[in-house]
Amino acid sequence: MTGARLLGSGSALPKRVLTNADLAAQIDTSDEWIVERTGIRQRYIAGDDETTSTLAIAAARAAIDDAGIDASSIDLIILATATPDNTFPATATKVQHALGCNGGVAFDVAAVCSGFLYALATADSLLKTGMGTRALVIGAETFSRILDWEDRTTCVLFGDGAGAIVLEASDTGAAGDNDGPGILASRLHADGGQHDLLYVDGGPSTTQTVGHLRMKGREVFRHAVVNLASVLGEVIEEAGISVEDIDWVVPHQANARILDATARKLGIPREKVIITVDQHANTSAASVPLAFDVARRDGRIKSGDLVMFEAMGGGFTWGASLMRI
Ligand code: ACO
Repeated sequence: MTGARLLGSGSALPKRVLTNADLAAQIDTSDEWIVERTGIRQRYIAGDDETTSTLAIAAARAAIDDAGIDASSIDLIILATATPDNTFPATATKVQHALGCNGGVAFDVAAVCSGFLYALATADSLLKTGMGTRALVIGAETFSRILDWEDRTTCVLFGDGAGAIVLEASDTGAAGDNDGPGILASRLHADGGQHDLLYVDGGPSTTQTVGHLRMKGREVFRHAVVNLASVLGEVIEEAGISVEDIDWVVPHQANARILDATARKLGIPREKVIITVDQHANTSAASVPLAFDVARRDGRIKSGDLVMFEAMGGGFTWGASLMRI
């Protein structure tokens, strides 16, 4: 097998919507400030009966329905999350059990907002080596549980949700076959030297608490634009395409200004960039597959389109993947 092609996608959001006006009633912020600086208008927040696994399972079921396959044929599940249900076992194993496909491979990937890109490249590699035949790649998060709700510089930026895709091992998408469906190129990076710009101040081995997200937003912004433009360039070069060949960019939804600045730097028209940050805010590893599913279901992304996925997050980690749908 030479790669992995898409069979379906799905997504899930918590029931509760929290608007900027709702937030302004709780902390010293305003709809105007949040919209102007980030493009965010609302976010979804998990209730007591919703967790990362319940959202992941709902997204996975929607993706399996869309693919028109039997869940029992899934033999590889990779779930990207920084907010697992428990420290262990991996949330992916809960998804596996709920879907009734026990016995295959199931594990979590922790690369924060880039988690879905890491999971996608890993699934592609494992399918290529025959470690699986049908994979579920999921991004699922409940960041609301690690936010400091008194810190207005961070709590207004994030939301909860999940997105999933089903991939199948395929003979297409190999180098030199850019017209066939599949993943044409992927690139991943990490720079552990940037830990202090974006991290959670707790964990099982340090404080024995879950901790809260801490961020130096302005510096993250600056690194995000540089790193994303650079990795997109690498993937474009590796695939041997030009920027004009890309039909859609599905970026990590952190901030509308980061999306605009990155697209501008590469000369990608804004109409080709899928934007859901206004509705979902930043859902970390869930944001790319969530935005992808929204754009497939509303008919923008179609079979045959060339789609660029990209993300950057805590670590720092960052990456991009190019897929022919
Ligand atoms: N409401 C009102 N005022 C606020 C708020 C708020 N929610 N948050 C901060 N402010 C104030 C600050 O206190 C500051 O006031 P001061 O000038 O009196 O000190 C002022 O607004 C400006 O603050 P800055 O932090 O300089 O604002 P900036 O223009 O940099 O915008 C933001 C902040 C939106 C966080 C921006 O830096 C950003 O988007 N960074 C990227 C971070 C990001 O997206 N991280 C997600 C994870 S990483 C990733 O996904 C790529």
